[in-house]
Amino acid sequence: MAFLCRSAALLLKPSGAAPAVLSTARLYSSGGQYEYILVEKRGEKNNVGFIQLNRPKALNALCDGLMKEVGQALDAFEVDGDVGAIVITGSDRAFAAGADIKEMQNRTFQECYGGNFLAHWNRVSTVKKPVIAAVNGFALGGGCELAMMCDIIYAGEKAQFGQPEILLGTIPGAGGTQRLTRAVGKSLAMEMVLTGDKINAQEAKQSAFELTLAEGNRLEKRLFHATFATDDRKEGMTAFVEKRKASFQDK
Ligand SMILES: *[C@@H]1O[C@H](CO)[C@@H](O)[C@H](O)[C@H]1NC(C)=O
Repeated sequence: MAFLCRSAALLLKPSGAAPAVLSTARLYSSGGQYEYILVEKRGEKNNVGFIQLNRPKALNALCDGLMKEVGQALDAFEVDGDVGAIVITGSDRAFAAGADIKEMQNRTFQECYGGNFLAHWNRVSTVKKPVIAAVNGFALGGGCELAMMCDIIYAGEKAQFGQPEILLGTIPGAGGTQRLTRAVGKSLAMEMVLTGDKINAQEAKQSAFELTLAEGNRLEKRLFHATFATDDRKEGMTAFVEKRKASFQDK
């Protein structure tokens, strides 16, 4: 299997404008109908594969259906000889505010571990063409992880990055604990993952940290699954869905 070495370089786009850098849209029809994303080929030569996350009411929360569609669109662009690079973007308000917590609320440890829950998200990081995340607004939890799976992040001035999973009694499960250390350095990454605090585009533009990504991701995924065996994870996600403050018991 050939795939590019991925490193998430956080680049700051100087203007405050929306980070969509490309024009001349043409409808991209070969992927069939998409429910959660808009897919087009853009640019003067139609050589940019453009994927816009499109669940505005849910601030582009990354439900399973959405991530499956992103995978399908990436598959199509990867084999399309016209496409040289791929852009994934959201809206001005939210790149993606997180994973879909309602879908996770009642999952058990056994289901997560047995089905290797979230493993298919990794498709974004194995595409053989450069993938650019154009981010404005919230890139939180799974949204931050999705952006970091891309090769380059262009962040607008309203971009906010964070891994607030700790506030739901769980941990990042799609590479957040591993890629964040490389993107912003170990110290800031630990602060973000342990407190759930957000950072803006300026703060994100920092140093790099190298470890074995595959091993780290494997361990992270299993620890993420393990949080589904705790009462606090269930309480954290239930409180989120019920829009109330979580009452954690440390168990
Ligand atoms: C999870 O389970 C609770 C209690 O059994 C139920 O009230 C709730 O609707 C379920 N949540 C989802 C998203 O299915």
